[in-house]
Amino acid sequence: MKYNIAVLDGDGIGPEICAGAIKVLNKVGKKFGHDFVFTHYPIGGCAIDKCGVPLPEETVKGCLASDSVLLGAVGGYKWDNLPVDIRPEKGLLGIRKAMGLYSNIRPAKLWKSLSGASPLKDELVKGGVEIIIVRELTGGIYFGERGKGEEKGEEYAWDTEKYSVHEIERIAEIACALASKRTKKLISVDKANVLESSRLWRKTVHGYAAKHYPDITVEDMLVDNAAMQIVKNPAQFDVLVTSNIFGDILSDEAAQVTGSIGMLASSSLGDGTRGLYEPIHGSAPDIAGKDIANPIATILAAAMMLRDSFTLTEEYDAIEGAIQNVLDKGYRTADIMQDGCVSVSGSEMARLVAEEI
Ligand code: IPM
Ligand code: MN
Repeated sequence: MKYNIAVLDGDGIGPEICAGAIKVLNKVGKKFGHDFVFTHYPIGGCAIDKCGVPLPEETVKGCLASDSVLLGAVGGYKWDNLPVDIRPEKGLLGIRKAMGLYSNIRPAKLWKSLSGASPLKDELVKGGVEIIIVRELTGGIYFGERGKGEEKGEEYAWDTEKYSVHEIERIAEIACALASKRTKKLISVDKANVLESSRLWRKTVHGYAAKHYPDITVEDMLVDNAAMQIVKNPAQFDVLVTSNIFGDILSDEAAQVTGSIGMLASSSLGDGTRGLYEPIHGSAPDIAGKDIANPIATILAAAMMLRDSFTLTEEYDAIEGAIQNVLDKGYRTADIMQDGCVSVSGSEMARLVAEEI
């Protein structure tokens, strides 16, 4: 079977980590008899340099014509002072919107062989941690009306958080379906003690779950409490569903609990099977071009693409197993280095994982 994959390498370490994932996908293709065809398109800072905009038309067209999309990372110091409309981040927000990717799944998992990497006390994480954050991705305050002005000689600015029932229901569906396949416990995070949009969120999530997933329990948690609970007792979480902004913040916190952000991937999907898969970490311009960046998060993102967009479950398992084996053999990139382990470069890590498949 032939799969057309659009690759948005982006900035900083983006091209190196995408190259690592492509190496592994090619090996999977050879072993399982698939033909993965990669077409690269610019996004973010490199697109600003090349085309003057962070999300060129050809990139949107290429992604919409592909079977799925792999993204490295965008951004860097070089573009930090540009006007907001031509910042690299706009490219990322833009492609999510253009592809209709309203659902972002960010699993924060503590790998067995890396449990020592968590900054939390051993007793809090020794039973294992896997928090699956389902973040609404194309609504809320990141896409709401905004503006700025001046009143009585003083500057002001505003943004709006707005959610419709339809937007909440479709993300509730994703979260409920996931929860029903796992522990049947869903935690919905909001700020319903203050925000009107959160009160609608809460009512809608409960109504949807009761009607379509009567077998799962939905528990509400206020976002400030959730921030605290993630570090106090991370094992209580399984699937967590929340809005765009809360999910952005809590997913970074949950990632940090695992102590190895270089190991975490995310998937963004809409109504069809075409998705966008990316590592959770950023473009790390300080280490770009040095071949020390950990490619595993991007390799895992590619694995999620095989599973969630192409239903290639066996191939997903093969990649995950290969990563586990390489870690068990003691190979580590700099970010996850531990005493007694063998330090390898980013490209060596990708080669080791590919070899293991
Ligand atoms: C993320 C990033 C983006 C977001 C930025 C770069 C726009 O922080 O993917 O979490 O907030 O969605
Ligand atoms: Mn973020």
